[in-house]
Amino acid sequence: MSELAAERIISYIKQNPTATICLAGGYTPIGTYQIFSQKAKESKLDLTGITFVGLDEWVGLNGADKGSCRETLDEYIFRPLHVREDHILFFDGKAANSDKECSRVVEELEQKGGLDFALLGIGLNGHVGFNEPHVPMEQKAHVVTLDDVTRDVSSKYFKEVIKVSQGMTLGMKTILSSDQIVLLASGAEKAEIIAQAVNEKPSPEIPASLLSLNKNFEIILDSEAGRYVESSR
Ligand code: PGA
Repeated sequence: MSELAAERIISYIKQNPTATICLAGGYTPIGTYQIFSQKAKESKLDLTGITFVGLDEWVGLNGADKGSCRETLDEYIFRPLHVREDHILFFDGKAANSDKECSRVVEELEQKGGLDFALLGIGLNGHVGFNEPHVPMEQKAHVVTLDDVTRDVSSKYFKEVIKVSQGMTLGMKTILSSDQIVLLASGAEKAEIIAQAVNEKPSPEIPASLLSLNKNFEIILDSEAGRYVESSR
């Protein structure tokens, strides 16, 4: 899964050397990021025209906090590949005004012509970024009150007890306008939600199901996450 996803990013960058590439936080894409970084270094992939865009961030956290989305990307992509700050567009979860911070990200992203490629994960509740179930489809970047499932799951990312109740995220409108979208899922715990996202009609109840509205959308799964997909087809 990670090899294939890393290949997708590399080939997109080779064909589109000035692309905006949206990357998710979370555990699922870490293997992809390690392989991507290694291969990008080995092949001297030209990243000088690329802008990396953070999909989401916990309100109250930023790159200084272990377990934040930004810190994950710092560790696995930005530091190993020496990506300059002016090539990174990321929510600062510690910004004094969260709504203004979201507007800043929307404006800067629009100046760059929007998203080109998006690598995404899926939450146990079907969320994409922090677009929780029943998400409005017309949103760009915005502040979200986190769903109970997301709040419960959040503790896996933090060594200390950190209570998070809100997130900042790119909205479905922005994500769906990407030129290419890849959704990753691994592990048995994602099998049921993946089957729902794949088999049910696109609906805001399961935000990941909306991704199939994009013409260039692909899901890459490991065998455990995909175990109900084959049998239901
Ligand atoms: P995970 O998070 O990759 O850590 O499972 C995915 C998500 O919640 O979007």
